[in-house]
Amino acid sequence: MGRSSKDKRDIYYRQAKEEGWRARSAFKLLQLDEEYNLFEGVTRAVDLCAAPGSWSQVLARKLRTKEKKEHVKIVAVDLQAMAPLPGVTQIQGDITKLSTAEEIIKHFEGQSADLVVCDGAPDVTGLHDVDEYIQAQLLLAALNITTHVLKKGGTFVAKIFRGKDVTLLYSQLRIFFSRVTCAKPRSSRNSSIEAFVVCRNYSPPEGYVPNMSNPLLDHSYDVDFNQLEGSNRIIVPFLACGDLSGFDSDRTYPLQLDSSKEYSYTPPTQPPIHPPYEQACFMRKNNLLAKEDAPAASLDHALSAMQLSASEEVDQQPSTSADQRGSHGINATDLPTLTEK
Ligand SMILES: C[S@@+](CC[C@H](N)C(=O)[O-])C[C@H]1O[C@@H](n2cnc3c(N)ncnc32)[C@H](O)[C@@H]1O
Repeated sequence: MGRSSKDKRDIYYRQAKEEGWRARSAFKLLQLDEEYNLFEGVTRAVDLCAAPGSWSQVLARKLRTKEKKEHVKIVAVDLQAMAPLPGVTQIQGDITKLSTAEEIIKHFEGQSADLVVCDGAPDVTGLHDVDEYIQAQLLLAALNITTHVLKKGGTFVAKIFRGKDVTLLYSQLRIFFSRVTCAKPRSSRNSSIEAFVVCRNYSPPEGYVPNMSNPLLDHSYDVDFNQLEGSNRIIVPFLACGDLSGFDSDRTYPLQLDSSKEYSYTPPTQPPIHPPYEQACFMRKNNLLAKEDAPAASLDHALSAMQLSASEEVDQQPSTSADQRGSHGINATDLPTLTEK
């Protein structure tokens, strides 16, 4: 398979590269904004689970207009390191930690955010129930940290998997927001259960004190929660958004889209730095993966080989920038690139 085959299969992946976005997810936020006008009046925004940074790019491009540039503050949080972006402060941290909430507030000089977005996703296991459960936990963690940093009346947008627990999640969101909608942007594949909750008008219950001691879903609720009826059952409106006559994310398109413009391959905008699969790529490339008929190379051995290789590369190629090179000296071009989620 050539490198352009993914360009054929995924039109938004290709467009993201051509327009300079770090990931195809940028289109999801742009399409949500087309429907909900999310950025109006926003000067302080938080991007939770931000790496590699395409949502932060959207926030920066939309909010940091000439007139408002001075006053706009954007904070991006992720477990993983992310290449710098002008006008975006990065916190490498965990959204389930109180210290992360405190750092965000410190950056806003004690003021609250107008908008919190979260495109958080765990590494999927392929076991649907497990993936849905972990995604639900991440959404609740995002909601929890949001209650620490969002101003009353503010907006929260987050990825949700429309699985078994969705009714419970909607109910929990409705406790804090007067309007909750579920939206599916055109760039999110129909074949995926991914959607986004758009929660408006943050209005926590009277006397509510944000608390990070137990941010997660403990499943001590009634297992029949989803069968609740009447006023106990929360059904939120569902909306498909984005230009519905635009590109279909589930379709394959020819490389030559427009007869007047010849196709040429565009490399990814920003390869990830220190991705979690870095070590596996290094081991595969250097034939260090365990084989059935030979004693497996120990992890220690592999790690020391990586460190050695890193120091050799630094000596030999002093001009390679830190952003282009992984922590173990792997050139970013060796690694899978644009985030697909
Ligand atoms: C789909 S990616 C986000 C893509 C991003 N919105 C973009 O447009 O570039 C999901 C991210 O969630 C992050 N993540 C998962 N759990 C997290 C946690 N507990 N705290 C912070 N980030 C987390 C992962 O590290 C990953 O980078």
